[in-house]
Amino acid sequence: MTSKEASPFRVGLLGHGTVGGAFEHLLSERADAIGREIGRRPEIVGVLTRSRGSFEDILERSDLVVELIGGTDPALDYALRSLDAGRHLVSANKQLLSQHGEQLFEAAGRSGAQLRFEAAVAGVVPVIRVIGESLAGAHIERVHGIVNGTTNFILTAMERTGASYGDALREAQELGFAEADPTEDVTGKDAAAKMAILARLAFGAPVHLDEVPYEGIEGITADDIAYAKELGLSLKLIGSAERRPEGLSVHVYPAFLYAGHPLAAVNGSFNAVTIESPAITEITLSGPGAGGTQTASAVLGDVVSAMIPPSFNPPPASPQPLVTDVESAFYLHVEVADRPGVLAQVAEILGLQGVSIKSVVQKGIGEDARLAMVMHPVLESRFRAAVGLIGRLDFVRSTPRVIRVIEEVFE
Ligand SMILES: NC(=O)c1ccc[n+]([C@@H]2O[C@H](COP(=O)([O-])OP(=O)(O)OC[C@H]3O[C@@H](n4cnc5c(N)ncnc54)[C@H](OP(=O)(O)O)[C@@H]3O)[C@@H](O)[C@H]2O)c1
Repeated sequence: MTSKEASPFRVGLLGHGTVGGAFEHLLSERADAIGREIGRRPEIVGVLTRSRGSFEDILERSDLVVELIGGTDPALDYALRSLDAGRHLVSANKQLLSQHGEQLFEAAGRSGAQLRFEAAVAGVVPVIRVIGESLAGAHIERVHGIVNGTTNFILTAMERTGASYGDALREAQELGFAEADPTEDVTGKDAAAKMAILARLAFGAPVHLDEVPYEGIEGITADDIAYAKELGLSLKLIGSAERRPEGLSVHVYPAFLYAGHPLAAVNGSFNAVTIESPAITEITLSGPGAGGTQTASAVLGDVVSAMIPPSFNPPPASPQPLVTDVESAFYLHVEVADRPGVLAQVAEILGLQGVSIKSVVQKGIGEDARLAMVMHPVLESRFRAAVGLIGRLDFVRSTPRVIRVIEEVFE
């Protein structure tokens, strides 16, 4: 079939910024080839921004609506009205999906329209499709990954050059890897939204952004990274979603990884997600996590998938308990007066709480000393209780710093 014979597939575009503009450009480049391949040629029938277009008019004329506005207001209203009207919806909006996913899935289920959102998590890395479709036959035990490119860029720069957090953030902003206001990225909130979406898909349970505890990287110092290097560790902002006997655990936190972990080698602004299931052992997907063209490519992939039946909508979710106090290995960094017996006292407090030390680095700095230690896995509440007591010892010079360590090595 020639592209002229292909019938039109009408796409309404909401938002024409970084991703929306790149999407329109990519679609015009690829439309003929798609028309030849699948017999329908996608074409944009209307564009909505703050200053042009009418949503009602676009809805009326579209087979599918692409939402690239961001945020939840007015994106939620437009998304629900599109699905209710039976229009397929493609969105790159993690806030929308992590806060109103159930409402949207229900609307899609009612009208039979497809809801696709590959670009909402890890940019062009096809993790939504792999979890929702390719691995639909596997019982997924855990999904963990690096789902924020800004923080990975900053941490990689700190590790490679010894730069401070502030200097690495400024470099990221100058190179366009961090926004002028980086709060959502560096606090871990952006990653938390993405993990809520992945947990929903992997475990079939509703997980709202508000239920995902997150920690960011603003407190990480060049020291933490330098000491950890000596212990063979590298630091990443990890999103983790896993099944545990007590329920689901979904968290975002900075964590040290040993070199053999598949996520340890993911550097710069790249994203990567590891999916674990007994049936498949583990799969790691990685690639660019953002960028207008890259994200637009994932959006167009969703549009083409929606053009080809059969449709896929996730099955209804059933609630499962969410747990927050779970076992982990930890790194502890304490600045202390350099005098005999200090390490023994710290070790005693840890021991009384059932925390056992795996490795220690101790360095003198003038009259003080620094202790950097890695613990064996322990329930977080016990470890935090010990750290609270250590922080109150008279020879401790500053608030102890704690970072999780992911112990697994994949060989
Ligand atoms: N940028 C990335 O690399 C990336 C990566 C992955 C996912 N995403 C997601 O993609 C979505 C779009 O991001 P972006 O970077 O393209 O955003 P952006 O550059 O800020 O563009 C937003 C667009 O939405 C329009 N808009 C905002 N409020 C509106 C309203 N009330 N009514 C109508 N239009 C409105 C804006 O209109 P004006 O043109 O009039 O301002 C602009 O065209 C977000 O959900 C984001 O999280 C982005």
